[in-house]
This record gives sequence, C-alpha cells and structure tokens, in this order.
Amino acid sequence: MALPKKARLFEVGPRDGLQNEATPVPTAAKIELIHRLQDAGLRLIEATAFVSPKWVPQMADNAEVMAGIRRKPGVIYPVLVPNMKGLDAAIAAGAEEVVVFGAATESFSKRNTNCTIDEGLARFAEVAQAAIAKGIRVRGDISVCLGCPYEGEVDPAAVVHVAKVLDAMGCYEITVCDTIGTGTAGKTRTVIEAVAKHIPVERIAGHFHDTYGQALTNIYAALECGVATFDSSVAGLGGCPYAKGATGNVATEDVLYLLDGLGIETGVDMTKLIAAGDYICGVLGRPTLSRVARAIRARAA
Ligand code: HMG
Ligand code: MG
Repeated sequence: MALPKKARLFEVGPRDGLQNEATPVPTAAKIELIHRLQDAGLRLIEATAFVSPKWVPQMADNAEVMAGIRRKPGVIYPVLVPNMKGLDAAIAAGAEEVVVFGAATESFSKRNTNCTIDEGLARFAEVAQAAIAKGIRVRGDISVCLGCPYEGEVDPAAVVHVAKVLDAMGCYEITVCDTIGTGTAGKTRTVIEAVAKHIPVERIAGHFHDTYGQALTNIYAALECGVATFDSSVAGLGGCPYAKGATGNVATEDVLYLLDGLGIETGVDMTKLIAAGDYICGVLGRPTLSRVARAIRARAA
C-alpha cells in the first residue's frame, strides 16, 4: 500500500509523558507546555487524565490544567477517562474529546484499572453513550497489544475482541498501544492487519512506547498498513505507572523527522517542537530522550 500523504500527530506528552513523574510537576508548567505544543502546530494534545488521584497523583490537577489552557481554534485537548466519575469531571472541565483505555490482557486491566477486561468495557460503554449524547468524541485506546508485562505474548485475537467492542460503542478511533515497547515491525503489521479486518484503517491509530528502540520501525510498518495517526510524546517523556520499566512514548521530534523525510505532511514545526521539548526538560531537570532534538541542537551549536 502507498504511504499516506498526511499524518496526524496525537501529542500525549502532557498526559502519558508526565503521569509517571515522581515529584509533582507544577500545573503552570503543564499549561505552558501545552501552549508551546499548540504553537508548534500540534492539533491533538492529550492534556491530562480524569483518573483517580489515588492511583495517579500526578494528574490530580486535571481541572486546573484544563481551566488554564488558552484554547486555540482547531486544537482538540482530549483527556483520559476511566469511568463516569471521570467523564462528569471532564465535562465540567470543558473536554471536547475523551479517551477510554482498555487492555488486551486481564492482568494489565486489573493492575491499571482494577477490573476485568469486560468490566472495563462495560464502564466505557456507559461513558461513551453519555459522552456521545453530549457531542463529545470518544477515542478507545487498547493497552498491551504487542506484549504484556505480566502475561508476555499477546494473541492478536484478544486485541481484535477489545477493538470490536470499542468500535461498537462508538469510539471514532481505536488506538493499538505498545505499552512496554516490546513490539517489532512484523508483529505490529500482524496486529494492525487483524484489527483492520473489522475497523477501517483510517480509524486505527498507533501508540508506541520506545523502550526497546523499536517505535519508529513499528510506525513505519503501521504506515505501510495505511495507519496515519500516531501518538507520541515530546522529548520522549513518560511511561505507565502500571508497566514497570516501560519508558516513554516515542519522541514526537523523532516521529516528525521520519514523516518529514517521507514527505508526509503534519503541519508541525520542528524548531518550535524542539523548543517545547527543551522547555519541559528544563522544568524536569533532565536531558531530552529525542535523538533528533539532540542531533539538531548539536549541529546548530
Ligand atoms: P478503584 O479503586 O477500583 O475505584 O479504581 P473506586 O471506584 O473504588 O474508587 C476509588 C477512589 O477513587 C474513590 O475515592 C473514588 O471516588 C475515586 P474515595 O471514595 O476512596 O475517596 N475515583 C475517582 N476520582 C477521580 N476521578 C475518577 C475516579 N474514579 C474513582 N475518575 C479506577 C478504579 C479506574 C478509578 C482506577 O484504577 C484508576 O483511576 N486507574 C487509572 C490508572 C491510570 O491512569 N493509568 C495510567 C493511564 S493508562 C496508560 O498510560 C496507557 C496508555 O498510555 C496506552 C498504553 O500505553 O498502553 C493510555
Ligand atoms: Mg502509553
């Protein structure tokens, strides 16, 4: 299949990138990061998560983050929502898009959301119905599609099952997530092709953590399957608190470099994106994990 001419970058840095930080990141810094990301041309910025603050303390300032964003026309700020309590809070905060997040294995579902796969899906169905009735878009993420920290190999049929249920409840997009970054290109292709038998490939997105350095090749494999929406995290920040050892998402700068090189349009400006990454790395006191940001900065120096 020919590669897509355009791709959508779904920035998850402010949520997936920061949710795992051990010390609180100031709310003002999260808001400033979102402003810099939107100024760089990103149109989909996952801003925060309306999850239990007992489970993920770093996202406890969700309402303050949403209230502080200077919303830019054309930009959507999706938020993670695990249940009706989260949806109610997200609606009160003015969310236009919510993300429900299921898993392809029972062990991960239990660790991440304290329920079975089917119990989670039942909660999401209630969330989706209420959200869609209010004109709020719902996206469905599926964790551990390419490997599970507790169960190892994952059967693509398990991913397909969850994808079909998320689709039936009205999710506009289904995200195949490699939570621990163990996937390789062949497995990525197999899972995407299995899901694409049931859901149009234009409605499938990819979310690849880069723990094993495979994310860019997985993205290329997904592009070859026709996928054109990719989650990424500026400066490669992040990890999942319930997937020990998993590092951040693939760096947005690195994905942009790949897409720019392939002539695939994104509307994102590399210089401003790298500056946004520098900003948050400065706040965290940590160097960027983006190879591209490091290389471009070294060349400029
Ligand atoms: P639970 O403990 O079974 O739920 O957690 P509960 O209903 O018994 O509630 C426990 C307490 O939390 C109660 O408070 C609730 O009110 C409160 P208490 O009465 O004890 O004071 N609570 C909430 N508070 C605020 N907002 C809410 C909410 N819900 C309950 N929405 C629950 C179940 C699902 C809530 C919990 O497990 C949870 O919040 N899990 C989220 C975990 C999480 O955020 N993980 C990281 C994000 S997922 C991820 O990173 C993967 C992804 O990137 C894709 C990939 O890479 O794979 C998306
Ligand atoms: Mg993730």
